Amino acid sequence: MEAAEKEEISVEDEVVDKTIFRDCSKIAFYRRQKQQLSKNTTYRALLDSATTGQDSTKFQIINETTKIPLLVEVYGIERNIFRFKINEETPLKPRYEVPDVLTNKPTTVRLISYSGDGGSLTLTDGKEDLKCYITANPFKIDLISEKEVVISINSLGQLYFEHLQTPQTQRITNKNEEKSSADTSQENPEDPGLWEEKFGNFVDVKANGPASIGLDFSLHGFEHVYGIPQHAESHQLQNTRDGDAYRLYNLDIYGYQIHDKMGIYGSVPYLLAHKLGRTIGIFWLNASETLVEINTEPAVEYTLTQMNPAAAKQMVRPRTNVHWMSESGIIDVFLLTGPTPSDIFKQYSYLTGTQAMPPLFSLGYHQCRWNYEDEQDVEAVDAGFDEHDIPYDVMWLDIEHTEGKRYFTWDKKKFPNPKRMQELLRSKKRKLVVISDPHIKVDPDYSVYAKAKEEGFFVRNKEGGDFEGVCWPGLSSYLDLTNPKVREWYSGLFAFPAYQGSTDILFIWNDMNEPSVFRGPELTMQKNAIHHGNWEHRELHNIYGFYQQMATAEGLIQRSKGKERPFVLSRSFFAGSQKYGAVWTGDNTAEWSYLKISIPMLLTLNITGISFCGADVGGFIGNPEAELLVRWYQAGAYQPFFRGHATMNTKRREPWLFGEENTRLIREAIRERYTLLPYFYSLFYYAHVASEPVMRPLWVEFPDELETFGVEDEYMLGSALLVHPVTEPKATTVDVFLPGSNEIWYDYKTFAHWEGGCTVKIPVALDTIPVFQRGGSVVPIRTTIGKSTGWMTNSPYGLRVALSTKVYGQLDSAVGEVYLDDGHSFQYLHQKQFLHRKFSFCSSVLSNSCADERGHYPSKCVVEQILVLGLKKKPSSVSTHSSDGKDQPVTFTYYAQTSTLSLEKLSLNIGADWEVHIT
Ligand code: GLC
Repeated sequence: MEAAEKEEISVEDEVVDKTIFRDCSKIAFYRRQKQQLSKNTTYRALLDSATTGQDSTKFQIINETTKIPLLVEVYGIERNIFRFKINEETPLKPRYEVPDVLTNKPTTVRLISYSGDGGSLTLTDGKEDLKCYITANPFKIDLISEKEVVISINSLGQLYFEHLQTPQTQRITNKNEEKSSADTSQENPEDPGLWEEKFGNFVDVKANGPASIGLDFSLHGFEHVYGIPQHAESHQLQNTRDGDAYRLYNLDIYGYQIHDKMGIYGSVPYLLAHKLGRTIGIFWLNASETLVEINTEPAVEYTLTQMNPAAAKQMVRPRTNVHWMSESGIIDVFLLTGPTPSDIFKQYSYLTGTQAMPPLFSLGYHQCRWNYEDEQDVEAVDAGFDEHDIPYDVMWLDIEHTEGKRYFTWDKKKFPNPKRMQELLRSKKRKLVVISDPHIKVDPDYSVYAKAKEEGFFVRNKEGGDFEGVCWPGLSSYLDLTNPKVREWYSGLFAFPAYQGSTDILFIWNDMNEPSVFRGPELTMQKNAIHHGNWEHRELHNIYGFYQQMATAEGLIQRSKGKERPFVLSRSFFAGSQKYGAVWTGDNTAEWSYLKISIPMLLTLNITGISFCGADVGGFIGNPEAELLVRWYQAGAYQPFFRGHATMNTKRREPWLFGEENTRLIREAIRERYTLLPYFYSLFYYAHVASEPVMRPLWVEFPDELETFGVEDEYMLGSALLVHPVTEPKATTVDVFLPGSNEIWYDYKTFAHWEGGCTVKIPVALDTIPVFQRGGSVVPIRTTIGKSTGWMTNSPYGLRVALSTKVYGQLDSAVGEVYLDDGHSFQYLHQKQFLHRKFSFCSSVLSNSCADERGHYPSKCVVEQILVLGLKKKPSSVSTHSSDGKDQPVTFTYYAQTSTLSLEKLSLNIGADWEVHIT
């Protein structure tokens, strides 16, 4: 959609025009696979000729109808991962294998094979627990753990592989891609679309012909599957109906519909499944258009008396069948075998990397709008936050800040002195983020365009010229960021001398990088555009945005000579994007239902590696009523990336524009976020070093509790806080499920407590954010809030100790940690300049000790406040003990009604060993 067109649309009549986008019935490779699979062709494995080398075991499989062979390679990878690759033995030309996603070449373990007379082959990694049992005819692989089949591959015979063929020139049309007629009736639903495929006005001419692949996985005993973002859908994946598969195809869908399986901005082809006792993952490493069908067969009770007990048991198990289909590439799939959720997170990040450690400022609140008009506007909005005593860290500028949407430039009238503006923000210890999209205005006088043109850095069209499409600036070409040379050059554009008007407080937002092409098919690039290495766009469509964020992050690191952590927000993403920064859920709408769906959408991103994510607070499109805006701030304050944003032509909605009471409520929510920053920052550190998601679905923390598996209106922030945002208008109560029969939960504000394993009705007023602290945890907070994180470096800390009987198996105990460093550089990594402390409460003593001896960081900060929740008896005395043997009595207040002990005005260094004795 063009800018002008977008502007003209009034919010009221905003409905996604689904005819612009394809559903399964309009996707030829889907139709072909369905048709072919109905014919039941099978594959047979030639196991006699299997060879096991250092890295892998290889054998052929043969299609019983066509007699064409394929090569299967099985790899055992350390950490209990199996990889299966299926490709043509000698394809006409190489097929695309996704580069740059795996962090390292995964270390393989040598497989040991046992042959079963050609009829079967067993592979183990020597540890004997996990076995791959390969059946020759029909070809099938079972993954067995402890004598139980966990996953079967191709047990439904959906292996599908189109071999590259010599172009049949007579079948290729010479017709123009964009035909004059918009008559969609030309699409023939029976057309196999082998060498060309029509959609609306578009004809996709396929120089390489059909190349589609597919495979099925049966997950035994699993009823709960998750992952494969990005969809505006529930956290738990739904059964798909025929013709309505989950689509992974990165698209720009303005005001996308919710509860829909259409692909939106990003794709992570990674699915997780969980059942009591085991979590597994399937990572389908393919960057072409992909469809995933899910079919869960629930447990069925049979009373088959004539069967032996084992068989009867087998029949009652539920099962989920997952069918992956991709337009091209090879089958390259990783099976992650868990067995626990935390093992799965480690296995996946071993392959694709962990969440980048964000600079601290980026965990504060971000203020964005399309657009903050000019320098005066920026100044006024910035001042508004101070006037209203609302902390914030980052001001954002959208596309209008540039000279005619030429990125890396400034509109000279509106932003005549960008450095002065940044100095103002710097003086407030705040930052600026500006937008930089991958489309480059066709304008020979625009240096970025001229240079890229000269160097051949643009994606090409199939005729060999530069690809041109329409986006914000009008006619544009698109940087071929799949080319390492282009990325290197692009990274260099962020260097201070190259990017005039930029300073070191300026960070970057990458948008429209699906890529969005307004008049292209489905508003994206033609699949036969050509990239570096002569690869067609169809091969790598889903990874285009990943590369832009990669190059931008690299550029920001380089401009600081490797010293500073970057911050880059990207709309499009792929598996592994977590290494480069944050993502958000795109153009949502100011409606309650979008607030509600933000929770499952973010949970899904978190479990697929991308912890740093958020949704536009307030809803991008439309005007939220005050209550919705308040509730959205309250929810956003507890989500990893926290940014208010609004589209053009919406009413201004800075937090103080809705009357005093609403200003107060928003202020409170944002301030709550700032008090929790030590906890958030520590969670990001664990995401970074230990692959733990920041925002966790309940099943991750309570994997043995069936009731948690489908919960998505509440979640855990780390392992200590349970958050249940209010997502309904005029709510007076919310039903909060408190999991864990041996848990205790404390209301974060009132300190009321409940035993877990029940649902409680919590009364809510407009200022209530239902948050509960888990018994047994210690949550670090800041007790003084500044104008931004920059003002809080030396703010005192507080500790919220919530007691339980669970930790240490002892009465009244709790543990927690805090991580801190300079908040912006890589010194934590290279010089180990960090503090990682552990707090534990046991036998009436709270101690602060070192959690990681490698780290050193001089911090003046003190813990000044300690709150102990769940202390049943009033203490007779409280004293502090420092490591040099000094003891000091502490004055305290005990609240019998809430069983809370409060210690104030302490002065205990956060980085020192000390104890607090409660007697
Ligand atoms: C896209 C983005 C939105 C941005 C707009 C203008 O719609 O999703 O966040 O404000 O483009 O750049």
